[in-house]
Amino acid sequence: MKPSIVAPFYILTFPVVIQAVTLIEALNQNGASNFAKQIQANPDILALYTSPSVQTVYAVPDTSFVFTNTTLRARQDDPQQLQLQTSTELNKLQTLSKVPGGVSNSNLKSPKLKKPQAVVSESGGNESPQRRQSGNSTIPSAPVRIASGLGKKVNLVRGDVAYDGGVIHIIDQFFTVPDSLSNTISSTGLSGFQSLLTQANLSDTFTNQNSITIFTPSNEAVAAAANTNSTSELQTLLKNHVIPEFTGYLPLLTDGATFTTLAGFTLTISVKNGAYFVNNVKIIGANSITDNGVAHVIDGILTPTPEPFTGAGWQLRPSYAAMAAVIAAVVGQLAVSL
Ligand SMILES: *[C@@H]1O[C@H](CO)[C@@H](O)[C@H](O)[C@H]1NC(C)=O
Ligand SMILES: *[C@@H]1O[C@H](CO)[C@@H](O)[C@H](O)[C@H]1NC(C)=O
Ligand SMILES: *[C@@H]1O[C@H](CO)[C@@H](O)[C@H](O)[C@H]1NC(C)=O
Ligand SMILES: *[C@@H]1O[C@H](CO)[C@@H](O)[C@H](O)[C@H]1NC(C)=O
Repeated sequence: MKPSIVAPFYILTFPVVIQAVTLIEALNQNGASNFAKQIQANPDILALYTSPSVQTVYAVPDTSFVFTNTTLRARQDDPQQLQLQTSTELNKLQTLSKVPGGVSNSNLKSPKLKKPQAVVSESGGNESPQRRQSGNSTIPSAPVRIASGLGKKVNLVRGDVAYDGGVIHIIDQFFTVPDSLSNTISSTGLSGFQSLLTQANLSDTFTNQNSITIFTPSNEAVAAAANTNSTSELQTLLKNHVIPEFTGYLPLLTDGATFTTLAGFTLTISVKNGAYFVNNVKIIGANSITDNGVAHVIDGILTPTPEPFTGAGWQLRPSYAAMAAVIAAVVGQLAVSL
């Protein structure tokens, strides 16, 4: 119980109903009693949920099919799963439903990340979605989806149910606990990119890398430019799809932002009419969360681009001509092998 700290917040944002119910009471009153039971079944989890480390709870309602299926229900008792269903921050619906979305840091730790594992909201709405008040909760007018592991997304059905430690959002399914990058790539069906990684012997390297953003070309994109037998050129090409030391969930990729890849080249983000591009290649599937970062599916291959010529220090950088030759060689061989 920490009402003295949060009370002013509620007075500001919930002028009609000032909540003083506990988390378990609020879950029970809002059709999430099975979820409440799962929390109460594990003393460590109950202690976490009632601590200041949890300010937002993503609860699954009793009506969800997972609670009628014993196989699925057993899996959701996993402490990691229940750690992921939380946020260390107060993430109000307004934050989650903004365009392009919000990052919600959970209490799930991942050894391969230098910070907590996150889930990412994505709004299908306009810049200021209307929201409808319903009982003690708010219904988003435009769909709000939340991305987690293996590219899986759940829908936020009702939000901002207040309790004495924060807010509860009702989602229609459990999040998916993030898996390794290699398992994520294979189980999301990116077989083309997977075989390029295998060919270049980079699958383990990328999978074991701490905190990365990786752009994973679709099968169609790989098929349009598949296979070279020059391992070093292929490695350069693939390393150009990885931003090290940065977890670039979509809301953090802003128009004009530039990043240096593992290959040492620059990627530039652009946003046009709500669509996101990296070096003019479109992101077609954002926010597949992995245990070491985040993967975004793109509809092309990212060929290395040189740094803009500035005069100073140019000898330290690969020349444009040399890079153009590498690109030509790779793309040429890709084309020949089709
Ligand atoms: C329960 O869920 C599992 C996993 O999705 C599925 O294989 C199984 O068929 C389901 N059982 C029932 C009775 O629906
Ligand atoms: C709203 O919360 C109160 C307790 O604060 C509860 O009695 C009531 O059932 C709740 N209403 C809805 C619609 O959840
Ligand atoms: C493949 O990469 C690993 C490092 O991930 C390295 O230990 C191994 O020697 C490499 N294998 C080949 C055949 O280059
Ligand atoms: C593979 O490389 C060898 C030697 O560099 C070359 O002779 C051969 O044509 C290449 N094969 C393909 C399919 O590109």
